[in-house]
Amino acid sequence: MTKRPIAIALTLALGLGIAACSNSEGEHAADGAHKTKFEHVTAYDGDAARGEKLAADKKLGTSGQSCVDCHGVGGAKPIDATYPVLAGQYQDYLFHSIQQYRDGGREHALMTNQIKGAVEAGNLNDQGIADLAAFFAKQQGPLGDLHGH
Ligand code: HEC
Repeated sequence: MTKRPIAIALTLALGLGIAACSNSEGEHAADGAHKTKFEHVTAYDGDAARGEKLAADKKLGTSGQSCVDCHGVGGAKPIDATYPVLAGQYQDYLFHSIQQYRDGGREHALMTNQIKGAVEAGNLNDQGIADLAAFFAKQQGPLGDLHGH
């Protein structure tokens, strides 16, 4: 009879799991517009088409420059050799780096200003960051190490 409590516990856990899943599923809107601020956006929830628009938007932040003004078309050809190529970079790496500029874990005069400006203007939330990551990750670019590999 020792198996019975375990079976009940399992049934309960499964039931709760399914309830939790169906709940978040129900709120998940295809265009992301109905996400609540409590809903968790992951690195892979982005929409590349929306990301492309954000990347070219000069009014996203307060600097008057868009992402592609510095990182080049598709993030593939930065205007300065020391600026990073974003095209073809890992999607989760892009997602987390942008969040880090926003949250202060990573600081750089140009980038922090760029991202914080956009967030403070109300133009960039987690969904937008995921959209940018989806867009740049999909682009073809010369990403490689410093030895050209
Ligand atoms: C004024 C020029 C400029 C603009 C505009 C700009 N960036 Fe950057 N970006 C940089 C520079 C310079 C770095 C390198 C910063 C560092 O070393 O941390 C960088 C770094 C990054 C990184 C980290 C890449 C890596 O390989 O670690 C990401 C991601 C990024 N930018 C995304 C964006 C996005 C998205 C936008 C638009 C919202 C944007 N950038 C706008 C200049 C710019």
